[in-house]
Amino acid sequence: MPPRDPEISSDVSAVRKTVVDIRRDLHAHPEMAFREVRTAALAARRLRALGWEVTEEVARTGVVAVLRGNGPRTVALRADMDALPIQEIDRKSYRSGTAGVMHACGHDGHVAGMLGVAEVLARRKKSLRGTVKLLFQPAEESPGGALPMIQAGVLKNPDVDAIFGLHMWNDFPVGRLGVRPGPLLAAADQFDITIIGRGGHGAAPHQTRDPIMAAVHAIQGLQSLSSRMVDPLQPIVVSVGRIRGGEAFNVIPDRVEFSGTIRTFDPKLRKKLPQMVRTIVGGSARAFGAEFEMKYTMYYPATINDPGMAALVQQVAAGVVGAANVDDRVQTLGGEDMSYFLNEVPGCFFFLGCRNEKKGFASPHHSNTFDFDEAALPIGVETLVRTVEAFLAAPGPARR
Ligand code: NI
Repeated sequence: MPPRDPEISSDVSAVRKTVVDIRRDLHAHPEMAFREVRTAALAARRLRALGWEVTEEVARTGVVAVLRGNGPRTVALRADMDALPIQEIDRKSYRSGTAGVMHACGHDGHVAGMLGVAEVLARRKKSLRGTVKLLFQPAEESPGGALPMIQAGVLKNPDVDAIFGLHMWNDFPVGRLGVRPGPLLAAADQFDITIIGRGGHGAAPHQTRDPIMAAVHAIQGLQSLSSRMVDPLQPIVVSVGRIRGGEAFNVIPDRVEFSGTIRTFDPKLRKKLPQMVRTIVGGSARAFGAEFEMKYTMYYPATINDPGMAALVQQVAAGVVGAANVDDRVQTLGGEDMSYFLNEVPGCFFFLGCRNEKKGFASPHHSNTFDFDEAALPIGVETLVRTVEAFLAAPGPARR
């Protein structure tokens, strides 16, 4: 770790107003997944003006920017750009101007903050001890833009040695950072099940193969995944969120459909789950003479931080907000496609506290009143800039 450089703090202060202005502009102009055209153009224009080499239309609406300093290693930072299909309920001046679309997760802050990082690093280019690559990624909320960007080659040429990124985090007050080694966010997978029985009269169940009873047993059985079949020290959540079957109170239907989500941190456990679900559902269906069909969809993998990279960010974060304000135990069963980048190169994704009840910023992410305290933005900018410089200054050869 190099000694803390007070110049960085003053460079960050100098971009503070610009970052807030950009964030409000983006908030007023939210764009959904793979339609981040205005957002991407704004980022590209600004990056070029700051002297970065810019590539646009990466994985459709993504933007990649490179700044070459003097050193063998390359570090990447990632910001996601997309908004959500939510109607914003607010009267503030920078509220969404697009009906039914809203930055309700803080990705406007991610883009604006990263443009602040771009400006600070451009000012400090002469002393930069390696190459920095900024990845502005589309479609995090779904269907996912990280994997298409990797497939488009963003981690190559120059080859990325480490990657970092942050998420605005309203569970934490502004001034608090969440940085932990290992799993931070979960793998979020989906199952869709149809139980196929044989319908009939509610008064003569013995003439039917009741799919409702089979579904009830299957759904209860799935809860025993966490209580009986998986190591109790291993986090897992199974939630059935949709069930549909039958038309009349006195008729046993032919089929019942239900769908749910399974969240896990451990990649090995995740791989075993489709077969475990199949066993429970199949056993329940067979007990009632019914058949079943299952579709199991794997979405984003768990977001797992490299211990060394997490330690580096923790050290940097302690220098920015004080060690007492760095939480190293935060975890959530939400999902994130930053996971794909972290499966390719070591890195660390962390949470930037942005709640402030006194200012009225306390709504949860993805709610129609979500907003955050912009005082968090310069903290995020400073942490990322210092992380970049600490990584590039650390001894050790390039990874490849
Ligand atoms: Ni998000």
